[in-house]
Amino acid sequence: MIYLNSEFMPIEQARVPVLDRGFIFGDGVYEVIPVYSRHPFRLAEHLRRLQASLEGIRLANPHDDAEWTRLVRRLIELNEPEDQSLYLQVTRGVARRDHAFPKGVAPTVFMMSNALSTPPREQVDKGVGAVTAADNRWLRCDIKAVSLLPNVLLRQLAVDDGCVEAVLLRDGIMTEGAASNIFVVRNGVLLAPPKSHLMLPGITYDVVLELAQANGIKHQIRPVAESELRGADEAWLTSSTKEVLAIVRLDGKPVGGGAPGPLFRRMYALYQDYKERVMRTSGD
Ligand code: PDD
Repeated sequence: MIYLNSEFMPIEQARVPVLDRGFIFGDGVYEVIPVYSRHPFRLAEHLRRLQASLEGIRLANPHDDAEWTRLVRRLIELNEPEDQSLYLQVTRGVARRDHAFPKGVAPTVFMMSNALSTPPREQVDKGVGAVTAADNRWLRCDIKAVSLLPNVLLRQLAVDDGCVEAVLLRDGIMTEGAASNIFVVRNGVLLAPPKSHLMLPGITYDVVLELAQANGIKHQIRPVAESELRGADEAWLTSSTKEVLAIVRLDGKPVGGGAPGPLFRRMYALYQDYKERVMRTSGD
């Protein structure tokens, strides 16, 4: 079942008019929220980022957090898998094509749920390959906009090379992945790029930094140069659906020893523990 503009229905019945500004302009924002054992993970944080994205595109939030929470819980109930990946999008609605904002138009609100497929064990144990690419996106990558054409093209470069992600570089600095945030480990120190307009403030990124802080893992939040990425002992990617994965090959060359490093293995275990702890104590 999906949710579209106040109604729950089978996806086959869902229809959006072709003049929806999401279709015509990519004029909308979205969230992807992982659901473990029917509990939405970090929902409050996802809703806060949704609010920031909506403000970024000057679109009023159609619901308050209580209403979003109710809709999210209902959608989870209506779908079978215990672990789900919830996709939510708000567009500027349906109007005659004109770039300027239409007046008096209701936004289109859409939510769907898919079975959550976290990375297979083999990817966790062996790591994944990535390529680098020039970050040719706009300068508001902090907005989780549905207009993802640059990200689509960049991610495909990785897939074309048999890899899972493209690590993006802008002016000699690492920004993030095409659909993930990137961390680097050098000399036992975890390095994270600072949040800015050039990257999405990842919810998983925050969890990883909180876990580093809580467990005495040395870390620095500062710009990471391309040379530091290329000479890294470890590189990781993080996202709501991929959790934490080790990048063990970059542009065909091994990262560190070419296998998931010790700090990755520690963080992966901490992340899994944290997830379970949160789900056990989330109270419903
Ligand atoms: N993508 N950066 C980009 C460009 C992303 O698209 C994503 C997530 C992230 C990680 O954010 P988070 O930890 O909050 O998932 C960083 C989602 C999963 C997607 O588009 O499917």
